[in-house]
Parts: sequence; structure tokens; C-alpha cells
Amino acid sequence: MILGVNIDHVATLRQARLGVEPDPVMAVTLALLGGAEGITLHLREDRRHVNDRDLELLRACVPVELNLEMAATDEMLRIASKRLPDMVTLVPEKRKELTTEGGLDVRANMKVVKKAVRSLKDRGIGVSLFINPAEADIMASKEAGADMVEIHTGGYANEKGLRQQKELARVRKAVEKALELGLKANAGHGLNYINVTDIAGIAGIRGLYIGHSIISRAVLVGMERAVREMKGLIDQAVRQGSR
Ligand code: PXP
Repeated sequence: MILGVNIDHVATLRQARLGVEPDPVMAVTLALLGGAEGITLHLREDRRHVNDRDLELLRACVPVELNLEMAATDEMLRIASKRLPDMVTLVPEKRKELTTEGGLDVRANMKVVKKAVRSLKDRGIGVSLFINPAEADIMASKEAGADMVEIHTGGYANEKGLRQQKELARVRKAVEKALELGLKANAGHGLNYINVTDIAGIAGIRGLYIGHSIISRAVLVGMERAVREMKGLIDQAVRQGSR
């Protein structure tokens, strides 16, 4: 199971002073030493954290899977087609949100999503759609031509106890449905060092995409260690799940 580390929050800190530090490119070096198998960055329309320079430099130096999160706009499609990340995750984007709030409504935006998927795939870029754990959204993702889906785990992460177990079951069911339709299944959002184990124990998940909790821990213990500890938890859950 791949661990994709989202480095947006390093750029958020840099942008707090509109300066040059901390540099997300340097943070990526340490994430790689800690065992990151993917690097994710979200280039937003308003460039509130990651900017075009970060994408250009990371494309040049990241040797593992580079995942560009973006909205399906003409501007972003132009940028992706120029920079050629290994994969793009299409997300809904609202200017005022603190982070990506919900999954993409693929059915309601079918024409736009289909066109974006086609143009990215024509450039050899793998395409994932960030969606809620709902069968209808998985079927719509298949219809849109995506290679992969990323199941939104925010609902799971925000709950506790029995309700969390119900959300876990929804994620598991969504993963199973995606695999049944021939889609690769990723998951992410809101995962941390406490709640990651149950998600990582779901059979068939290809990759987990995690940002906030890793960067938060990195502030205290350093990036390399924060990534290594998360990777260790995921690997352990996978081993236990396959017993
Ligand atoms: N996956 C997607 C599609 C996201 O938008 C985000 C947040 O940028 C993440 C995963 C990572 O979420 P978190 O920062 O809560 O780990």
C-alpha cells in the first residue's frame, strides 16, 4: 500500500510570511528519506499554498509518484499537460474552504469530468477522482473513464465509536465496488496516527494520501520520522490484514 504524502501544509506555512521558508521542495527530500512512495500537492486556483514554481521543481526532482490534485478547469488542465505529473486527482474546489470538503459530484459534472479525464489520459497521466464512499459515485467515476478513485475518508475520520465503524464499512464497501468495476482504489482525508490502522487494514486499497497529521507531527519530531512512523503503522495494518 502506497503512502502518498501531501505537502501543501509546508507551503501554507511559507505563505504565512509570503517568504521562502519552509520550502516544500526541501520537505519532500526528507519525506522521501522517511519512506514516502508518493508526493501530493494541490495547486489551487488562488495559489494559497502550493504555487507553480513548487510544481515545476517537484516535477523535476521527485522520483516517486507525483500526484497533482486540482480542479477540472481549463487552466489546470493546461498546467497538467505541460508539467506531466504521474497522476492527477480531480477534486471539487471552493475558494473559501479550509480544505477539500466533499467528494466530487461526478454525475452532476459528467461532461466536464469526462473531458478532463480524456485530455489527461491523452497526455499519459493517470486519473483519479476524489469521491464520497457511495456506489453511485463509483459507477459515475467508471463511466467518466477514470483509472482510479480516491475514497473520501473524512466522514470516517470525523466520527467516533459505532458511527465510525459504520463509516468504515461504507469505505470498505466503496473499495470493493471500485475493484469490482476495475478501478484502482485509493483513500484519504483526515487520516492520522490513530485512525489510519482500520483503513489500512481494508484489503485492496492501493494507496493512502495523507497530509495534515504528518506535517503536524513533523513540526514536533521532524519530517523524516513523521513519515516513517506513518508508513510503519500502514505496513503493520497491511500485514495484520493479510494474516
Ligand atoms: N486527499 C485529498 C483529495 C485531499 O484534498 C486532501 C487534503 O488536501 C487529502 C487527501 C489529505 O487530507 P489530510 O490533510 O486531512 O490528510
